[in-house]
Amino acid sequence: MELIDGKLISQTIKDELKERVAELKKRGHSGSLAVIQVGNDPASSIYVKNKKKACEYIGIGSVSYELSENTSEAELLNIIDELNNKPEVIGILVQLPVPKHINEDKIIRAISPAKDVDGFHVENVGALCVGERGFVSCTPAGVIQLLKRSNVEIAGKHCVVIGRSNIVGKPMALLMLRENATVTVCHSKTQNLKEICKSADILIAAVGKPRMINSEYVKEGAVVIDVGIHRDENNKMCGDVDFDDVKDHVSKITPVPGGVGPMTIAMLMNNCVEAIENR
Ligand code: GUN
Repeated sequence: MELIDGKLISQTIKDELKERVAELKKRGHSGSLAVIQVGNDPASSIYVKNKKKACEYIGIGSVSYELSENTSEAELLNIIDELNNKPEVIGILVQLPVPKHINEDKIIRAISPAKDVDGFHVENVGALCVGERGFVSCTPAGVIQLLKRSNVEIAGKHCVVIGRSNIVGKPMALLMLRENATVTVCHSKTQNLKEICKSADILIAAVGKPRMINSEYVKEGAVVIDVGIHRDENNKMCGDVDFDDVKDHVSKITPVPGGVGPMTIAMLMNNCVEAIENR
């Protein structure tokens, strides 16, 4: 079994981006990422802090908007509109989830697709679907980088994605399809889930259930990518995959923490650099 080291790969990507940013600066191109957080969910605060730290590391600016829980949808839409029109702002990110009185879809659609570095806008999702250029959702884009940089062959392989969210499962399936995998998408209503997973050459778990995927779901020699992040009853971090149970059956696997997690921010930075280059 070989561990896929997301911490190392994400660091390599950030260092590559740092060089690209330095080159862009020499030619007079720069910009800032605007990060908006509504309310003060502690997990969101950590993500936002790490995103700003990554901006600083690669050498792009960041401006943050820490808005009260009571911010109205109209106020948030106004801020997004202002940011859409600011040339020095190259990317706009609204940390999700937003409070219940705000319509998430409406907020995502209000962000200019050219500044949608999260890749959540329908225009960017549509572009991915039909094979046009656009921003790709960061977590699934990070999974592709993990596979490619670990020399996992994707073309022709059977890839099973468990989960169908707009942020991970669906774009993940589209990306694997773009890489010429044969893709099966499973979800909570899937029948014979174990059998289907057991036929996967590449199994990508984005279920949201701690340690649900054990060795009964994994083919001998498969590559397993674990997108889940949870804390178990002992406050220990774990993923959707029961790592200890499957590790002796796989050829390659991502750990939690240190697998997919660090890739999300690296790919966000990649999208920010592309946003600067696109202008
Ligand atoms: N909440 C959980 N993941 C994400 C993400 O990738 N982007 C944003 N904006 N919010 C999130």
